[in-house]
Amino acid sequence: MARKRKLDDRSARHDAAYRRAKQEGFAARAVYKLQELDQRFSLLGHGRRVLDLGCWPGSWMQHAAQRVGEEGLVIGLDLRPVELALPPWCEAFVVDVDELDPARLVERFGEFDVVLSDMAPRTIGDSTTDRLRSEALFERALDIAVAVLRPGGHFAGKVFQGGQFPQLIQRMRETFSMAKPFHTKATRTGSTEQYLVGRGRRAKLGGEPSSPK
Ligand SMILES: C[S@@+](CC[C@H](N)C(=O)[O-])C[C@H]1O[C@@H](n2cnc3c(N)ncnc32)[C@H](O)[C@@H]1O
Repeated sequence: MARKRKLDDRSARHDAAYRRAKQEGFAARAVYKLQELDQRFSLLGHGRRVLDLGCWPGSWMQHAAQRVGEEGLVIGLDLRPVELALPPWCEAFVVDVDELDPARLVERFGEFDVVLSDMAPRTIGDSTTDRLRSEALFERALDIAVAVLRPGGHFAGKVFQGGQFPQLIQRMRETFSMAKPFHTKATRTGSTEQYLVGRGRRAKLGGEPSSPK
């Protein structure tokens, strides 16, 4: 009985977030997670160039577009096409990140200031497998970030915490001058979802980053 009330409270809260997102014109309530990350870690700002991995249906692109403004750039990649009308400084592509050549992205758009990843695997209900897949997607996002970020750039990526979590944090610390796990309030209660945030990509291992914009 108590458990049912808890589940009901939780879904009511999430329905409220969903309705609020729709009223505010956002494609998904996931936007509130990015807003929290952005407030806490100052990831986005005027004129920044942002790569958004796992961007469908597009709420993170919408928030990033507002924050970077027309002198910025927001490139989104996902397995699914984004159907929103986005401002001209944003573009979404249908891409499987496992097949992406990051060097081609840099050739076409130049280096990025910020890489975001909200990618999640299609879950199968077996928590061990789901977490392993999520960690593999996170690692792929981090590989891409390392390849496309300018020194001093920032990264935030979602991961469902599993057995590789300590190694992932360690790799984040080696790659960025500041690295932290962060659990957003907008994440469902009881979820193992975390965001690993890195600020100030090091120029090279052990080297000093250039100053963030
Ligand atoms: C939680 S949704 C992202 C929501 C988005 N941040 C927003 O605010 O609208 C996760 C996305 O990750 C994408 N994804 C999962 N695996 C991917 C892959 N290998 N390549 C590209 N996108 C992937 C899924 O298609 C899904 O749309």
